[in-house]
Amino acid sequence: MRQKIEEIKNEFIKKIKTESAEELRELEKYFLGRKGKVALLFKELKNVPKEERKSFGESINALKEFIEKNIKEKISEIEREERMRKLASEKLDVTVPGLKLRSGALHILTQTMLEVEKIFLSMGFDVMTGPEIEEEYYNFEALNIPEYHPARDMQDTFYLLNKYLLRTQTSPIQIRTMEKYKPPIRVIAVGRCYRKDPPDAHHFPIFHQVEGLVVDKNVSFKELKGTLSEFVRRMFGEGVEVRFNPSYFPFVEPGAETSINFGGWLEMGGSGMVHPNVLNNVGIDPEEYQGFAFGWGIERIAMVKYNIPDIRFFYKNDLRFLDQFR
Ligand code: DAH
Repeated sequence: MRQKIEEIKNEFIKKIKTESAEELRELEKYFLGRKGKVALLFKELKNVPKEERKSFGESINALKEFIEKNIKEKISEIEREERMRKLASEKLDVTVPGLKLRSGALHILTQTMLEVEKIFLSMGFDVMTGPEIEEEYYNFEALNIPEYHPARDMQDTFYLLNKYLLRTQTSPIQIRTMEKYKPPIRVIAVGRCYRKDPPDAHHFPIFHQVEGLVVDKNVSFKELKGTLSEFVRRMFGEGVEVRFNPSYFPFVEPGAETSINFGGWLEMGGSGMVHPNVLNNVGIDPEEYQGFAFGWGIERIAMVKYNIPDIRFFYKNDLRFLDQFR
């Protein structure tokens, strides 16, 4: 019996040299399982003379504990090694230089439009929007530009089916606003427009405008001048003058071209007193109400303010240009 115990112990010592957790679990079963080597030893106890049973029993128990303890230690050793290996393979080198992430920024035209909106909002205007795919009626007819009118030639554009077109100006939003709201009206609308213009330094088939419309009782040209002068003061700074030159736009009477003095006179857009025909078109009585309107180019505003010589820069997506306005 003593020899058997010794043999099993030696067998165990030889087999425990393994490095695999799986094999260890096999070993555990082989020695300590219900039909394992140790269990068999316990079974054989009954064949041992009574006086020796106690001492053999203790030896087998000691063997059992020895095996249990060694297997447990070995398993935790293997697990520890595995953990270290994993840690080593996942090691981070915090001294490696990072990847530089470029943060985005608003395009200079977007920035300009937001600034324009902010100024007019602070002057008590609301901001309206309208569709870029517009009906011919809103883009032309309702603005006192009938089909035969030569003013249409200047805005020859992208026509779609069923009397739809890409709007050539933000002025149709005037009509949409007056159809929806009763005076007093004080709104601006900023947005994209389209014309079949070949690109050059001052033209691009896509561009943006800010449209303004005020309709109320006792509105006169003075308020138009005052409003645009205040806008210019806030947008371009103190002491920049606004000039009104008589001009023709079918939806205003009188109409004026507007320029600012910012290192020379620079034309910004048109303006005028809303034409009675336009008020009649939307059911507002021109005897009771008057209005003024203006439409300025956003690209113009940005080109003048930031001294940008060519409108095409806005649409090239050249980071050397765009980065200057981050
Ligand atoms: N819509 C005109 C254009 O694109 C500009 C304009 C002129 C707008 C006079 C107005 C205005 O509101 O009163 O050429």
